[in-house]
Amino acid sequence: LLVDKGNHRHFMEKEIHEQPEVIAHTLAHYLDFASGGVKNFETPFDFAAIDRLAVSACGTAYLAGLIGKYWFERYARLPVDIDIASEFRYREMPLSQKSAALFVSQSGETADTLASLRYCRSAGIPIASIVNVRDSTMARESDGIFPTLAGPEIGVASTKAFTCQLSIFAALAVRAGLERGTLSREQAADFVRALSEAPRYAAQALKLEGRIEKVARALSQVRHVLYLGRDTSYPLALEGALKLKEISYIHAEGYAAGELKHGPIALIDEQMPVVVIAPQDRVFDKTVSNMQEVSARGGRIVLITDEEGAARASLDCFETIVMPKMPELLAPIVYALPVQMLAYHTAVVMGTDVDQPRNLAKSVTVE
Ligand code: G6P
Repeated sequence: LLVDKGNHRHFMEKEIHEQPEVIAHTLAHYLDFASGGVKNFETPFDFAAIDRLAVSACGTAYLAGLIGKYWFERYARLPVDIDIASEFRYREMPLSQKSAALFVSQSGETADTLASLRYCRSAGIPIASIVNVRDSTMARESDGIFPTLAGPEIGVASTKAFTCQLSIFAALAVRAGLERGTLSREQAADFVRALSEAPRYAAQALKLEGRIEKVARALSQVRHVLYLGRDTSYPLALEGALKLKEISYIHAEGYAAGELKHGPIALIDEQMPVVVIAPQDRVFDKTVSNMQEVSARGGRIVLITDEEGAARASLDCFETIVMPKMPELLAPIVYALPVQMLAYHTAVVMGTDVDQPRNLAKSVTVE
């Protein structure tokens, strides 16, 4: 493969840094920034005609789908069932003829996701896939594809494919909202305008690297890390924990912040770092009260928020990573970057094989 690391130490670092560009590229494929509209790209199903969407995927692609669920349900009022593909394929889910299926995969070859696709095929419902490899098996077996234009992703831990998958979910949710009559042209235009700013915010997020390296040095000293978030920051907390354990081998768990008191709070002591992902959004104050519970028990908080959020939280955090203030729809896409950088730099300090972590494969083509 004719891809090199350029002046980066690892492919993962290069791929993190490519995100402003590949997000812009991907969004431009689906959205018309000049008119503030959604392009009339082909879809294998009619968003106005379906009443349910089944989404299934593995790993990081599954977490993109989990964020997509929040958007489809909120903006297009379209109920989404999201499953881990290895569960979906054996779950015997009843699929009505008014539903459609959507699969998410960087490689387009993951065995469990492909088996889920074939299950939906036998149920006779329309099938689409968000894939990064256009001539993959999933692409061939789908009725239509939504390509991510991330370019080849070499690092085993997915980064740029994830933010491109999210970009497509955002664009699809706006398109579905328009077609289902739940978003007006004006609202859709506001979303499209917001999304056009995603690459610029992503570039700003990359500038926080120095600060994140400092936090990474502290994380490299611990054995366990907890990640918390609410709403669309909840899947991002799961993604942060997944990334950290994959490449640094530090045990990490992601939790919905509201579940803190149903278990993980028992783990909190002075040794326990808690990464809180909390852009200023509809649930910000709720997340702050969860942070207070962590703080009262001596937990060391790493807060990722914006300037106003940092001021409003007014807690004694171990470290605050201050992001630019941005529209709510962009937050999961842009906040993915500090989360990825935190895992990356922790792994670098730990001296692991970042691009080829032990026991993991880029593409899992066997069950
Ligand atoms: C492997 C990779 C992950 C990826 C997952 C799904 O576990 O290490 O980074 O998210 O497979 O792969 P896919 O190609 O289907 O997105």
